[in-house]
Amino acid sequence: MRLEPAAARRTNLGLLALVPAAMATGAAAYAIGTRWATWAVVAHGAVGIGVVALVPWKSAVAGPALRRRRAGYASSLGLAALVVVGLVTGFLHVTGVRRLGFGLTSMQVHVGASLLALPLFVLHAVARPVPVRRADPGRRDLLGAAALGAGALLGWGAVEGVLRLGGLPGARRRFTGSHERGSGQPSAMPVTQWLDDDVPALDADTWRLAVTTADGDRRLRYADVAVGDDRRVATIDCTGGWYAEQTWEGVPLAALLGPTAGARSVLVRSATGYSRRFPVADIPHLLLATRVAGEPLSPGHGFPARLVAPGRRGFWWVKWVTAVELSDRPWWWQSPFPLT
Ligand code: HEM
Ligand code: HEM
Repeated sequence: MRLEPAAARRTNLGLLALVPAAMATGAAAYAIGTRWATWAVVAHGAVGIGVVALVPWKSAVAGPALRRRRAGYASSLGLAALVVVGLVTGFLHVTGVRRLGFGLTSMQVHVGASLLALPLFVLHAVARPVPVRRADPGRRDLLGAAALGAGALLGWGAVEGVLRLGGLPGARRRFTGSHERGSGQPSAMPVTQWLDDDVPALDADTWRLAVTTADGDRRLRYADVAVGDDRRVATIDCTGGWYAEQTWEGVPLAALLGPTAGARSVLVRSATGYSRRFPVADIPHLLLATRVAGEPLSPGHGFPARLVAPGRRGFWWVKWVTAVELSDRPWWWQSPFPLT
């Protein structure tokens, strides 16, 4: 198929809109742990399927260009490969193929490939610009955009329909897109860390929890914290693509910290150096857990103590906590996603 120039231009413009939209909705689907995630997840699925819908047209643009071997064609091929890996792993995750081997999940490869694609995408779009010629888009541009949008949503509905009719595991995904793993049975929960963190071997006898408030610093022992028997049923929903509902037991952060007047955030630090900062308004919902399902936490799940942050995605549930400190910095004074 050889495309007329206007159709080639529409195809490239379609990708120029869809790929950044996929990145933005993907990031939102990843960050949000409340019901609002539904919108990001549905939009992300539809946008992703919109990209798939353009593959035949884009192939017709790329084929002749590839034969001419324009400067930079190898990086365009790299981009295409990463986008294909991203699409395939996106669908693998959705259908319920969680593990890909080498300790990697479909979701990790999905996000990794998409993020690697981003700089190549920017290079590609800058090196092969498509001028938006008219002030007003033409009728065919609008029709094309409307058809693509409708087709993408229908495509998303079709994927969901197939999952349900086929009784596939993907039909039981949570509203964040995550699959259930080990609810009520913590030993069956995957052990996942953010990027390069390793499970530390901590000894309950030497472990201390530093608590910093306006009244100064305190150091608590394991026994001081393990007496906490406040119970919360809460769902941990990991960005690795799984979730589990558990009964967590421990000491409420509100009880550890006492009055918070004057503070704007609370920083929770891990023995690994990892940390997350929360708004003080979250404190009543946060629990420092020492037990799950009635048993002490396992090392992989945060022994001696981990944070339980209901409604927030797993990367907020800091494990191996060694310090909690009230602070006058705003909670958003941190990277939206941890960098290490
Ligand atoms: C998922 C995103 C995209 C992929 C995988 C992709 C892939 C490719 C490939 C493999 C080629 C042929 C090799 C080359 O000439 O570099 C190509 C050509 C081209 N692409 Fe893309 N592309 C994407 C998005 C875009 C976007 C957003 C634009 C414009 C804003 C664009 C504009 C072009 C143009 C103008 C050509 C050259 C056509 C020619 O010389 O005849 N592409 N693309
Ligand atoms: C080029 C960029 C991307 C494309 C084309 C893309 C495409 C897709 C596709 C086609 C699916 C399957 C959707 C379905 O059938 O419902 C998917 C799922 C998913 N993607 Fe992406 N994605 C991209 C980037 C990202 C990024 C950067 C993130 C996170 C930071 C992300 C997170 C997710 C999540 C959480 C799901 C599962 C959603 C569900 O279960 O319905 N994606 N993606």
